[in-house]
Amino acid sequence: MVVVAILAAGRGTRMKSNLPKVLHSLGGKSLVERVIQSVEPLQPERRMAIVGYQAQEVKTALQTIPDIEFVEQTVQLGTGHAIQQLLPHLEGYNGDLLILNGDVPLLRSETLKHFLQIHQENQNAATVMTAKLPNPKGYGRVFCDEKNVVQQIIEDKDCTPAQRENQRINAGVYCFRWQDLAKILPHLEANNAQKEYYLTDAVTQVTPVMAVDVEDYQEIGGINDRLQLSAAYDILQARIKEKWMKAGVTLIDSASITIDETVELEPDVIIEPQTHLRGNTVIKAGSRIGPGSLIENSLISENVTARYSVITDSTVKDGSQIGPYAHLRGNVEVGEKCRVGNFVELKNTKLGNGSKTAHLSYLGDTTTGNKVNIGAGTITANYDGKNKHRTIIGNNTKTGSNSVLVAPITLGNDVYVAAGSTITEDVPNSYSPSASSC
Ligand code: UD1
Ligand code: CA
Repeated sequence: MVVVAILAAGRGTRMKSNLPKVLHSLGGKSLVERVIQSVEPLQPERRMAIVGYQAQEVKTALQTIPDIEFVEQTVQLGTGHAIQQLLPHLEGYNGDLLILNGDVPLLRSETLKHFLQIHQENQNAATVMTAKLPNPKGYGRVFCDEKNVVQQIIEDKDCTPAQRENQRINAGVYCFRWQDLAKILPHLEANNAQKEYYLTDAVTQVTPVMAVDVEDYQEIGGINDRLQLSAAYDILQARIKEKWMKAGVTLIDSASITIDETVELEPDVIIEPQTHLRGNTVIKAGSRIGPGSLIENSLISENVTARYSVITDSTVKDGSQIGPYAHLRGNVEVGEKCRVGNFVELKNTKLGNGSKTAHLSYLGDTTTGNKVNIGAGTITANYDGKNKHRTIIGNNTKTGSNSVLVAPITLGNDVYVAAGSTITEDVPNSYSPSASSC
């Protein structure tokens, strides 16, 4: 039986920010959101977040997460004081309490499961997650005897220069037998450099207590300032890229590419340099994205190319070529084997299969049929100053260079618009023996 408590009440002074530290974003999710999600597979009986600094903002940011309980720490007197706030909420509880720092966002669920298992198998009163860091600066140092029993945890600020040499650090993850901890909590003292009630002082007051080293120390990086936030982002990116490369995706100059965790890629996708894939983007087999592209919340089907282009909230079907320098600005559906070329902007627009808009055009609120050819510089005038209007273009229709289609307007099939025209009225289907849809 385990209850989880997440420490999220601190301001995070070292971030030098108005935003509470735990709400800073790491790859599209807040720090504390990541911590909360990491415990989901443990199926804890309760999940409690201790909030304080800008409590309302933190609660609002987490309101979509089901069953999370908030406990307020109205003044922030330290991590031990934060856990003291749980006393009235866990009265009579007889299981374990897993405590996580809200600013340690890269822990894997498997690591936490393993940690909890060790705690329970050994029937420890307390288990502390530790790691040996090449650069332990800023962390609490953990001192153990030869049997791995924790003797002392000393905060960086309270260490003597000799103690600071110890590279074994406290990761900020603990498991306590709650009944034992509850007895200690009221007696914590603030005899330290920060005049705070340290949770770490409780660790050495219960027995038996054990330190467990984490296998991959990158998981336990705490975020106290913007440098650590950036370093954590790099670690997260490395994890995501490794996963996709192992799954058959080629990343060229991977250091210059960023990929959100939420993106899905198929084998034989090639991502070229300086490309950024965000949100709920899916890219299917054989597509080649970049160099220099940004794809957000979009579905890119098979064998698509997208060079130096921005695609947001859109769909591109098989075999289409996008760019260089195209902008699919939202709710765009590009059919199969289409071409959207240089300096073309599309918004709320559907291009039928085999259609081309190769140069210098804006199509907004437009639906085209199949095999339409939009000439260079064709613009849909979709906005009359008050409302947006649609343009409908039939199959095989061609617009000449520099034509303006004033919406609302419908051009039929096989229409030919001469270069430089401004069209303000509907044009019916033009007769042509070849006028068949494809
Ligand atoms: C803490 C540990 C340190 C460990 C490090 C790991 C203590 C005393 N020290 O130090 O040993 O190496 O984490 O990252 O615990 N918080 C509250 N209420 C408070 C104070 C803090 O909820 O009154 C929350 C913060 O929002 C944060 C977490 O507790 O999420 C840790 O606080 P922080 O001030 O960052 O502790 P560290 O100095 O990093
Ligand atoms: Ca911290």
